[in-house]
Amino acid sequence: MRNKILIVMLLFFALLMSPVGAGAQSKADAVDGEGHQWWQHAVFYEIYPRSFADSNNDGVGDLKGITSKLDYLKDLGVDAIWITPCFPSPQVDFGYDVSDYENIDPMYGTLADFDNLVSGAENRDIRVILDFVVNHSSDQHKWFMDSKSSRTSEKRDWYVWRDGKGPGKPPNNWVSTFGGPAWTFDPSTHQYDYHFFYAQQPDLNWRNPAVKDAMFNVSRWWYKRGVAGFRLDAVDTLFEDPGLHDNPIAGSGKNAYGDPIEENKYNTKLPEVHGVLRGLRKVADESGAVLIGETWTKDVAELKQYYGEHSNELQMPMDLMLTKLKFSAPVFRDHIAGIDGAGGWPVYVISNHDIVRSYDRYGDGQHNDQIAKVMAALYLTLRGTPIMYYGEEIGMKTTPPTRKEDVKDPIGQRGWPKEKGRDGERTPMQWDGSENAGFSKATPWLPVPPAYKTHNVAAEAQQPDSVLEFYKKVLKLRHTSRALLDGSYTPLHESDQNVFSYLRSYKGEVVLVALNMSASPQKVNFELGKNGFSSAISLLATPKSAAQGDTLTLEPYGVFIGQLSH
Ligand code: NOJ
Repeated sequence: MRNKILIVMLLFFALLMSPVGAGAQSKADAVDGEGHQWWQHAVFYEIYPRSFADSNNDGVGDLKGITSKLDYLKDLGVDAIWITPCFPSPQVDFGYDVSDYENIDPMYGTLADFDNLVSGAENRDIRVILDFVVNHSSDQHKWFMDSKSSRTSEKRDWYVWRDGKGPGKPPNNWVSTFGGPAWTFDPSTHQYDYHFFYAQQPDLNWRNPAVKDAMFNVSRWWYKRGVAGFRLDAVDTLFEDPGLHDNPIAGSGKNAYGDPIEENKYNTKLPEVHGVLRGLRKVADESGAVLIGETWTKDVAELKQYYGEHSNELQMPMDLMLTKLKFSAPVFRDHIAGIDGAGGWPVYVISNHDIVRSYDRYGDGQHNDQIAKVMAALYLTLRGTPIMYYGEEIGMKTTPPTRKEDVKDPIGQRGWPKEKGRDGERTPMQWDGSENAGFSKATPWLPVPPAYKTHNVAAEAQQPDSVLEFYKKVLKLRHTSRALLDGSYTPLHESDQNVFSYLRSYKGEVVLVALNMSASPQKVNFELGKNGFSSAISLLATPKSAAQGDTLTLEPYGVFIGQLSH
């Protein structure tokens, strides 16, 4: 009996002492002893399923392909994957036009494949996040088909239908962000339906409680299937001004699609959005799930609103402003100060499937690998949760089409040549140096960039100084350093134009991060002695960057991460 009690006590203590995120994904171990949620300690990784790994060799990636790469992701240091839409879809916007919210597109596999992916991920302590396209469905969704069928159909009010202003005149001047009018006339019911994006993506009417219920239930349905949260697509655009006021026009210029340049005053960022986010959050909380927002904001104040006044909206609104910054120490320092001081948990992103890849956006064309390492060292050591984009860890570069006839993304077809579309940042993952970069045995849906010969997983795994190996090292450090996970953020040398440096401190553990964001070597004196430290012990540094006494020497685009000791 005494032995039994002892065993039970030992098991109880073992459970208490088990590290955050280790083992099960149950709600019980979602929070550590200090109140951190699992997603605060996790590194997220965005997967564009068409382009990640093609298991059935039809040229398009799929779920089994993702499952086959889980060991790679685990080894890299990924804790959660966000898969962009893999639901049934006519693929007008490559999945962001959903025709059934509760299934998997056959092109990607089946629900059983999805369940296998989730359990394979669970076995490796990786969580799965899906992309919830909340603003609009496909025009092929049965809800829209019913809605369009007659003015009195059951689901007529599930979408935004309005009368025109007269023959051939839409209800107002709103243009679609993907080009052309935001209203499409339906000749059989003589009304216009509204779409912020393509005509094939009609906006759902979130003012209708039945839409809310249906969408909340969709999220419940996936939580029950083991999904750990959602990335919410295009949250800004959920509501429109009921008065349908014309949007102001900025000047007489035209955008890449030939439309007037509008300020989206009356069809984006309406305050009603926050009510929906609170509702979705309530449902997410029932399952301990996380909500990540596609939050394009103009400033920190706007970003702050998405956390909710009582932290009851999005746990993770993305700081997408970061993707607009110029590669410069003072610019990053200023921006990070604002985000870190905003009171919420920061969520950093440097690339995604809609924007030019970070490798060439920050790169100068000569030192791109080094600059990619500086960026990795930066956003993976800040206080907050990072979201990586597939291929970023091997230095994949944007490779846009060179001829209009090769463009797949409709915005590129419509906006060519000013807008080349987003194909360039969606090219197949570069796994090895074989044909099609090991992505598929068939011709991939988008061509593999020539750079795959040097920048691929297999080759970089053999090179200790590759971008991939650097990412792995930073991620390992991040997972094992309490200072990097939970420590406070203190900027140093705030007038330095070249070196961005800061401390991350947690209960006496202090890590110094110094990043040379310039093309010339730099020396910085951190006056360690004066600040009560005896030395900086290197945890990770690029080849010619080192600390000697109080002085740190950094090669051009050099990185030094060190532990300060007393
Ligand atoms: C944002 C997504 O990231 C983008 O790829 C998509 O085209 C639009 N929302 C519309 O869903």
